[in-house]
Amino acid sequence: MTLLYGRFDEMVDAVLAPLTPRLRCIDLFSGIGGFHIAATNLGLDVVFACDIDADARIAYQHNFGLVPMGDIVSIKAEDIPDHDILLAGFPCQPFSIIGRQQGLADPRGTLFLEIIRIVQAKRPRGIVLENVKQLSTVRHGGVLRDIMGQLRELGYSVDYRVLNALDFGLPQKRERTIVVATLPAFKDFPWPSETVPMTPLADLLEQNPDRKYFVSETIRAKRHAAHTANVTPAIWHENKAGHISSHQWSCALRAGASHNYLLVDGERRLTPRELLRLQGFPDSFEIVCNDSQTRKQAGNAVPVPVVEAAIKGVVDVLGQSKIARRSLAEKRPIPAGAIS
Ligand SMILES: C[S@@+](CC[C@H](N)C(=O)[O-])C[C@H]1O[C@@H](n2cnc3c(N)ncnc32)[C@H](O)[C@@H]1O
Repeated sequence: MTLLYGRFDEMVDAVLAPLTPRLRCIDLFSGIGGFHIAATNLGLDVVFACDIDADARIAYQHNFGLVPMGDIVSIKAEDIPDHDILLAGFPCQPFSIIGRQQGLADPRGTLFLEIIRIVQAKRPRGIVLENVKQLSTVRHGGVLRDIMGQLRELGYSVDYRVLNALDFGLPQKRERTIVVATLPAFKDFPWPSETVPMTPLADLLEQNPDRKYFVSETIRAKRHAAHTANVTPAIWHENKAGHISSHQWSCALRAGASHNYLLVDGERRLTPRELLRLQGFPDSFEIVCNDSQTRKQAGNAVPVPVVEAAIKGVVDVLGQSKIARRSLAEKRPIPAGAIS
């Protein structure tokens, strides 16, 4: 009997799938669209984006045909289209180990309150937020507790994980705090349970990078005098104290880092295309800004497969909720004549 019900549910899903409107997302602090790529990979529509950075907006518009608006502070909630899922990789400087860890006391930290303002007005049924790993530890976890508490007060079921891009197939150690929230309550959020094997670094390095990416002989000699790698290709990482280590994966890309802190085999910088590949951007993403802007944009971006897994979890929670399905149908009725 259970089996029969299971089959019936599957049949209903199969019949309804082509008739069900695609879920609509908004992409706040959109940068160059890591969230956008993840959402469209899952068949979702991105209906709104905003970023204060003019170059990031140019790259976004060029690649996705959607013109992002600017400063979130000046955007009225009523100017934002209705949407099912709100996506936001809000600025991380206030929480990052590179910053001074002032958390929400830093004015940039208060940009989270802009997200709350939009959530209150638009009531999306799902939310995915991304930030640096330190969001979960700054002030002994107090900032994250505050963020999750504010979402709970608005009626959301909330959870978080620190996820590492290395576990999602990317050769980059990039740990990020991912917060998910949904209006239909969940008991256990469906976080991915398995890791994806890492793409070998060699597969994403360019064959013949331009000479301009190679460091001077002086820097090369200094690096090689200080460090010998066990493997090649490897990414050599120089930390703030000047210590060099090398791995078959990259340390986290950073927007404002010095040019030479990551060097392939101690010899050359990563090209813009390689930086984007390390974040899971497909080669169909066209680079339209100069090298220094693209380096900054790639350092700021979200690792695509990491947020894709989180969005998929939210979509699953929404799909499993009968209430969610009903409210979706109520909001966007199936056109007359679509079902005979
Ligand atoms: C961590 S990055 C997000 C990157 C993005 N998720 C991506 O994949 O490229 C944060 C972004 O917030 C933008 N930003 C900072 N302050 C802003 C504001 N007041 N309004 C809109 N965007 C802002 C920055 O320009 C930056 O692109």
